[in-house]
Amino acid sequence: MKFRKAVTYDDVLLEPQYSTIRTRQEISLGNALSDDLWLDLPLISSPMDTVTEGEMALAMARHGALGVIHRYNDIETQASIVRELHAATSSTLSAMATPAIAAAIGVTGFYLQRAVALCESGANILCVDVAHGHHILVKEALRSLRSELGADVHLMAGNVATLAAFNDLADWGADSVRCNIGGGSICSTRIQTGHGLPGLQTIFDCAATDRDVKIIADGGIRTSGDIVKAIAAGADFVMLGSMLAGTAESPGEIIEDSAGHLFKKYRGMASKDAQITWRGRHSSNEGVATQIPYKGDVDLLLQDITNGMRSGLSYSGARDIIDLQTKAKFVRQTGAGLNESGTHILSR
Ligand code: IMP
Repeated sequence: MKFRKAVTYDDVLLEPQYSTIRTRQEISLGNALSDDLWLDLPLISSPMDTVTEGEMALAMARHGALGVIHRYNDIETQASIVRELHAATSSTLSAMATPAIAAAIGVTGFYLQRAVALCESGANILCVDVAHGHHILVKEALRSLRSELGADVHLMAGNVATLAAFNDLADWGADSVRCNIGGGSICSTRIQTGHGLPGLQTIFDCAATDRDVKIIADGGIRTSGDIVKAIAAGADFVMLGSMLAGTAESPGEIIEDSAGHLFKKYRGMASKDAQITWRGRHSSNEGVATQIPYKGDVDLLLQDITNGMRSGLSYSGARDIIDLQTKAKFVRQTGAGLNESGTHILSR
């Protein structure tokens, strides 16, 4: 059997190119999610119970980014978060802009009732949040959601690993698709099931689509450098879990150890820990739960990430996302190259 090579973030680098950009402020990071929804910063926080509720979504909105309210609560709790967010976001944005309000749903049980309640509360983006998106239940859910809710609601769906899956979800009615299976920092899907694809390869593959549907790179993104690589490879948006977890705005208590170090919990939604909380039992565990050092305000973190992204575009001589995707020249690096790419004095 002949295997094709599949690359991920650490396998590649972007070649620096001639730049006519004099200051990073000349660079635009914005991108359209749909005809009437625009994000100034193409970042989306994950629908996870240790990443996105109202505070995170509001902080993301203030930076021109987006937060997806997780679905691991009862319908009324999630709908009330959306209602509060709608009022708060509307007053934060200019009168002209349509606030982007996103919330996650599943594909079984009362998911249609949840979807209707969320839209009535002000959500205009619904995220069909399933581990294996290339699935008949997702096909049926997307079709039901479209016929129940009409064309106006933006349907985000996933996750997928292949171009065939991406195109199917597009044809079933998705407006944007979360790409990558098994790459998340808290994910054990590949260990548990043997399935998945190196994350950046999925972006390269899905970027070959001829469908007019947005690509969201999701999972395994650790740095602003990874974000720039994902966008250069063809992603329109990047979804972040671990990078935003552990901040003041992520849900959950601050934990202090005996030495005074501060932490917050970060856990996969398919971890035993999360399943026990939300379902009272657990079946196939495809995630882990951990504590990560407390990072403080997400505002400073988002500013850092934004600065890194602007620098990244400038190294490719790119003024915006399309320019980056047009100009990007990827090279594969060796293990020695990867070593050199780190701050290697620290390991001497
Ligand atoms: P991270 O940014 O690398 O931490 O990955 C976050 C992403 O991991 C999320 O956006 C989901 O796509 C995915 N994810 C969340 N929970 C789980 C899980 O329990 N198992 C597998 N993947 C998960």
